[in-house]
Amino acid sequence: MGSVNNSSEDGEWKVVLNRRGRQGRRFPKYKAQEEEEQQQPWTPNELEVDSLRQSRLIQKMEISMKKLENSQFYAEFVGKIQAPEVLDHFRRVLGTESQLNMVIYGIGSIESYEPPRFQLSIAILLKKKFDWIGDIEVFDPVLSATESNVVTSLGCSVLSVNEQGRREAIKPTLFFMPHCEAELYSNLLQANWRTDSLSRIALFGNSFQTYEQHVVENKNSLNPRVISSTRRIIAVRSFTHEFAIETVSDDYFPAFHDSSWHFFCHDHPDSELPLVDS
Ligand SMILES: C[S@@+](CC[C@H](N)C(=O)[O-])C[C@H]1O[C@@H](n2cnc3c(N)ncnc32)[C@H](O)[C@@H]1O
Repeated sequence: MGSVNNSSEDGEWKVVLNRRGRQGRRFPKYKAQEEEEQQQPWTPNELEVDSLRQSRLIQKMEISMKKLENSQFYAEFVGKIQAPEVLDHFRRVLGTESQLNMVIYGIGSIESYEPPRFQLSIAILLKKKFDWIGDIEVFDPVLSATESNVVTSLGCSVLSVNEQGRREAIKPTLFFMPHCEAELYSNLLQANWRTDSLSRIALFGNSFQTYEQHVVENKNSLNPRVISSTRRIIAVRSFTHEFAIETVSDDYFPAFHDSSWHFFCHDHPDSELPLVDS
């Protein structure tokens, strides 16, 4: 790991890594939490659907899915899921259910940027590939009506409520949260801070190990808000099984760097879960 530049007016900081020697990357991000977060009905800021933009975006998504599906990166991504140790964790999450529904938070603007297109593409390809992956629900407050229509045309549904990441895993659920902010992972963990709920979650997102490493290595210089937004992530680490994604290909680095699968196994009663201030 190289250096961490803590830029902090907006509560975000930038990590610059020496590895691969070429790319600064914006991870993890921390956002100021000034208001009480509430789950609220949501409608896109831009309400009108533009049919020309919509058809262009459908084309872009088709190109993205095709490119990804034929890539070595995708083959390895699938291979990782099929590795016996990882597959075993998915089986445990499934329990007696036959399918895991997928909730995608924080996909970003699929019209404006390629990484969100690759991220949505991989989620759709995984559903096509594995019959144990069920319906896909998507939410990001930045989605426009045009983007939402495209997401729907690809067989997913778009949530009409901003859950603030606080979905309770009443059923086994795959949370696909590529490069989200620490608060969103923390909200998800908080909403599921019981051993049975945590055991029903498979989570794809920023590496929790990396969050912990950053906080430990920089604890004397970090903004207290950063420490607070990662507290629960670090608390869950002691019973997290994490499997990192390798991104050796430049094409897929921006979309998937520093990402991992996470599974939470705790064999003890709820009372033994660490107490974490919210
Ligand atoms: C760091 S960006 C990542 C975007 C994209 N996944 C990528 O890798 O480029 C985090 C995303 O989380 C979204 N976000 C913020 N609050 C959210 C919420 N309550 N539910 C879902 N997504 C949210 C933001 O709008 C933003 O697009």
